[in-house]
Amino acid sequence: MYLQRRNRILRSNAAIRSMVAETILRPSDFIVPLFIDEGENIQAEIASMPGYYRRSLDLTVKEVKELWAMGLKCVLLFIKCKDEWKDNTGKEAWNPNGLMQRSIKAIKEAVPDMLVMTDVALDPYSSYGHDGIVKNGEIVNDETVEALVKMSVSHAKAGTDFVAPSDMMDGRIGEIRRGLEENGFTKTGIMSYSAKYASCFYGPFRDALDSAPGFGDKKTYQMDYANRTEAIKETLMDVEEGADIVMVKPAMAYLDIIREIKNSVEVPVSAYQVSGEYAMIKAAAEKGWLDENKAVLECLSSIKRAGADLIATYFAKDVVRLISG
Ligand code: PBG
Repeated sequence: MYLQRRNRILRSNAAIRSMVAETILRPSDFIVPLFIDEGENIQAEIASMPGYYRRSLDLTVKEVKELWAMGLKCVLLFIKCKDEWKDNTGKEAWNPNGLMQRSIKAIKEAVPDMLVMTDVALDPYSSYGHDGIVKNGEIVNDETVEALVKMSVSHAKAGTDFVAPSDMMDGRIGEIRRGLEENGFTKTGIMSYSAKYASCFYGPFRDALDSAPGFGDKKTYQMDYANRTEAIKETLMDVEEGADIVMVKPAMAYLDIIREIKNSVEVPVSAYQVSGEYAMIKAAAEKGWLDENKAVLECLSSIKRAGADLIATYFAKDVVRLISG
């Protein structure tokens, strides 16, 4: 047999494989989500996210120092709000002395170069567990956007580098940008969760923050997983309204969307490998059905190969160890 082209030549040993590898993971690709709770010296493992923790602020600051030392450059903050502070307006979200605002300050003070991104959505603060204000059983758009602007400005005041609106209300990016401009925050970025799907893969996260919707689901604001064109429309509008970075979420079941968006926009694209994706790999590895390290590298490489410039993942520390080890 004579063959003009033998593709296996470029796969024949580790040296040539590493030379022609198209997708290389590096520490600065990753965004580390952190769950913060009130109290001191608390580190509580999240039942549905083995090996992942909710920490009090003091231990979070310690963790951030460790992340920075490992070469990670960016954290994405989520806080757990006490039940007695939750209501339908979500007003704890812009309390200048709230846990989020204190966390931003403490982290920027301890590790000034660490990029801090902050989740902007009402669900952890909402007595209904929804990302918006509820009226007559509906999640109202425009009043929610006003609340999100207040929340974003208060994060900017506390010193966040990027606000990350994860709510999927209409028109919020433009209004948040305007709010930041009007208040002089010309250096605060916006990472928009622009194509966020209504997904069952957020289950473990809602356990972590006790933020599951109290009634119904999130399908009137988050996107239908049947749709692709809509993801492009949402994302192009967010870019137009002023998003610096856009996001697709979840990641692994949406690799086609990541690629289409990467081909459609001229801003960095991020993808969020969400809590359920983490739980799935952990559970299979625990049962001995998958090699966790190999699964982590393969999945994160696929997300990057699909077109993600940045990846939020609960495996950030693990992957940095794997690629530098
Ligand atoms: C809240 C928010 C969610 C996630 C990030 N921000 C949950 C939701 O929309 O219900 C999910 C993250 C994850 O599952 O890892 N707006």
